[in-house]
Amino acid sequence: ASGEAPAGDLAGRRVVVSAGGTREPIDPVRFIGNRSSGRQGVELAAAAQARGARVTLVAANLAPDVAALVREHGLDDVVPVETTAQLRDAVRAGATTADVVVMAAAVADFRPAHAPDAKIKKVPGRGPEPIALVENPDVLAELAHDRLRDGQVVVGFAAETGDADGSVLDHGRAKARRKGADLLVVNAVGEGRGFAVDANDVTVVDGGGEVVAVASGTKREVAHAVWDAVAARLAGSGS
Ligand code: CTP
Ligand code: CA
Repeated sequence: ASGEAPAGDLAGRRVVVSAGGTREPIDPVRFIGNRSSGRQGVELAAAAQARGARVTLVAANLAPDVAALVREHGLDDVVPVETTAQLRDAVRAGATTADVVVMAAAVADFRPAHAPDAKIKKVPGRGPEPIALVENPDVLAELAHDRLRDGQVVVGFAAETGDADGSVLDHGRAKARRKGADLLVVNAVGEGRGFAVDANDVTVVDGGGEVVAVASGTKREVAHAVWDAVAARLAGSGS
C-alpha cells in the first residue's frame, strides 16, 4: 500500500463507518464483549474524510487511545453505541443517505436472552446459572439485502484464522458469498496480527469471492487500500 491519499476522490460522498466492538448486557454491571479496539474502523473513517467524504462514525466501545485518535482526526459526526441493537439502529439511520457503508465493527454474534434489572448475586456453595444466549441480527447481511439507498456500496470485514476446513482466504470467500456485501475485507488474525496491533494483511474480495485487491501495512495504509477499491466501484457504477 502506498499510503498516499488520492485527494478528494470521495468528495461529495456520504459514508457511514462502524467501529469497535459491541457489548451485550448480562446484568446492569456485566457484559459479553470482544477485544476489538476500533482502530481499523477509525482509520477508515479518517481516511474517507481526508479524501473528501462526509463521514458518520458509529463508535462501539472504542479503546481509550482510539477514542483519542477520533478527536485528533477531527471526526465530528460520531454516534456512540454500546449494544448491537443500538449499532444496528445508528448504522441503518445513516445508511438511508449514504453512498458507502463500512461495517468494520466486531458485532457480537449472540446476546443474553434476558438481562435482569438487578445485579446477579452469587449464592455461596451453589454454582452459577447458565446464561442463555440468542442470536443477534446480522447487520451487514441485512444492509446488503435491504439496499437502503440505490447504488450504495456495502463493505464488510472478516477476521479469519485458517483451520482444518480451509485457509483464511477460503473462509473469507465463502463469507463474502454468504453475506451479499459488495466488498469484504478479509483479515488474517492471530499470532500478533489483527487485534490491537497496527499492522494488517488484508485481501479484498467482491460479493462473488473474487479477489479485487491485496494490501499490507499499517491500519491507515489498509484503510486507503479499501477506499481505493470502493472508489473504483463507485466510479464503475457511474453514480
Ligand atoms: N456482522 C454484522 N452483524 C453480526 C455479525 C457480523 O454486521 N451480527 C458483520 C461484521 O461487522 C463484519 C462482517 O459481518 O463486517 C463479518 O463478521 P464476522 O464475525 O467475520 O462474520 P459472521 O457472519 O459473524 O461469521 P463468524 O463469526 O461465524 O465467522
Ligand atoms: Ca461473528
